[in-house]
Amino acid sequence: MLKTNLFKKTSELLKGKKTIAVVCNQWGDTGKGKFVDFFGSWADIIARGTGGANAGHTIRLKDKEYIFHLIPSGILYDSKGKINIIGSGVAFDPAVVEHEMSLLKASGCSNKNIFFSKDAHLVLPQHLLLDRVKESKAGLNKIGTTGRGIGPVYEDHYARIGLTVNDLLNPKIFKEKLIRNLREKIVLLNQYDKKVIKQILQHEHLGCGRFYDNKNIFNIDAIVKEYTRYGKIFKNNITDTDTYLRKNLGKKKILLEGAQGNLLSIDHGTYPFVTASDCTIAGLAKGVGLHENDVDMTFGIIKAPYMTRVGEGAFPTEMGGLKSAKWCGTSGITKKMEKDKFGDLLLDQTDEFKLGVAVRMAGYEYGATTGRPRRTGWLDLPFLRYSVQFSGPDVIFTKIDVMDLCKEIKICVAYEYTGPKYHVGELILNKGTKINIAIPDKEVLKYCRPIYKTFSGWQTTIRKLRNVNELPQQLKKIISFIEKEAGVKTRIISVGPDRDETIIVLK
Ligand code: IMP
Repeated sequence: MLKTNLFKKTSELLKGKKTIAVVCNQWGDTGKGKFVDFFGSWADIIARGTGGANAGHTIRLKDKEYIFHLIPSGILYDSKGKINIIGSGVAFDPAVVEHEMSLLKASGCSNKNIFFSKDAHLVLPQHLLLDRVKESKAGLNKIGTTGRGIGPVYEDHYARIGLTVNDLLNPKIFKEKLIRNLREKIVLLNQYDKKVIKQILQHEHLGCGRFYDNKNIFNIDAIVKEYTRYGKIFKNNITDTDTYLRKNLGKKKILLEGAQGNLLSIDHGTYPFVTASDCTIAGLAKGVGLHENDVDMTFGIIKAPYMTRVGEGAFPTEMGGLKSAKWCGTSGITKKMEKDKFGDLLLDQTDEFKLGVAVRMAGYEYGATTGRPRRTGWLDLPFLRYSVQFSGPDVIFTKIDVMDLCKEIKICVAYEYTGPKYHVGELILNKGTKINIAIPDKEVLKYCRPIYKTFSGWQTTIRKLRNVNELPQQLKKIISFIEKEAGVKTRIISVGPDRDETIIVLK
C-alpha cells in the first residue's frame, strides 16, 4: 500500500474521478507498470485493452521479481479483492496466461479475481510461427517484432477469420474455425523452407514441436486438445468483460492500463514500424468496451530527459545514430555482452554512442519481453507535441533520476528537414524546412535532423526527494521548459522505481 502522505496526495489528485488511464507518449517502456501498480491501490477494477504478450512489466511478489506479459499489474492487490481484466482488444495467449496464473498461485494469489474477455482474440501456434517466419532471414520487411504473434492475430481479426477466447469453451466450433483459419496459411507457409518452419515449431512457445505435422505443417488434433484444456482451466475466468465494465462505469473506480506507446500505434504511430493495435487512449478504451470520453483523466507517461525505442524504425535523436541502431539491432546482444565489452560506463562520455550505452546501463534499458538492448536517445519535443494530441496534457515524468549525474542534457526542440521535395497532404517539405511537430512518415523521418537546446545537468541524486519544491533548480528549469514547449501539465514525477519514490504535483 502507499504511504499515508502519498495516498492522501493521490486521493486529492484523483478527487472526483472514477475512470482513469495510464498510457505512454513515446515508444513504450516508460514505466507504465509502476503507475498501474501505484494507482492500483486506488482502483477497484484494473483492465488492459490493447497489445498482448509483447508487453512486459516487472512485478514483485513476496520479494521475488517476475516479468508478467498479460495479467494486469493490479494483480498485486489480489488479496484486496480488486478485479483484474484482460479486455476484448487484447491478443490473448492462453499459454502465457496459464504460466502467469501458476506463478500467482504459487505465491498465494487466488486467481479468482481475474477475468478474460470472451471476445479477445486468441494467439494460436500459426500466429507465433508466422510472426517468426516473417522476421527470420527468409522474411521480407523486418519490423523487429517481439515474436509473440501479435501482428498475425490482429491480421486475422480484421480478415474475419480469428478465433476468440469464447471458442476455448466450445471444442467443436474451435476445430471448425481452426481448420478454416489455417487454410490460406498453409498455402502461404508452403512457400517457405520447410526446415525453417519445422525449427520454429520446435520452440518452447510453440509447444516444443507438439503442433508440428510433417505433411500438413500443423497437427490440428494436438492444437484442439491443448486449447480445449485451456478452456477447462479458464472456464471460471471467461466472461463478458465489456458489459461488466460498462455496467460499473461511474460506480466503481476503474483503471485502464495501456500497453506500448502512442508512437507504436498502428493508426497513429511511426508506421510501418509499429505494433498491431492502437495504443492511444482511444484504442485502449475501445479495447475494454468503453469510449475515450468515458475516461475522466488520462495520464500520458514521458520518460525524460532521455527516451528509448526497441526494434526497427526512425529515431532522430538516437545517441550514436545509425551505429547505435545497428548495434542494438544485432541479434543476440545482451546486457552481459555489453558489460563485458564496454565495462561500467559512466554518464560522462563525450562519444554519443558510448553515452547511449551508458544511459542504457544506468536505466536498465533491456527489453522485459525479449532482453534486447533498447536504443537510447534524447527527449524529442516534435514527437512529444505530436503524441500529446492523443493523450492530452496530463503527464507523468519517469526515470528522471537515471540522468542525475549527466553533465549536459540535450533536448530536441525541432527538426530540420534535409531530404528532397516531398508532399505531405497540402504541405510541401523542402531541404531546410523546419518541423516543430513530428510527421510520422518514414520518408520524412529519415531526413529529420534534430535541432537541440542544451542545458547543464542538475548533477545531484534526487531519489530521496518527495516534494516538487525540493527538486534541484536546474531540473525544475528543464521540466518547465518541456511543459511550456509541449503544452503539458506535470501531475507526477517519478524519482525511482519503488512505489514511494514518487512526487505528486498538486497545482
Ligand atoms: P510486435 O508488437 O511484437 O508486433 O512488434 C512491433 C514493434 O513494436 C517492434 O518494434 C517492437 O519492438 C515494438 N514493441 C512491441 N511491444 C513493445 C513494448 O512493450 N515496448 C516497446 N516496444 C514494443
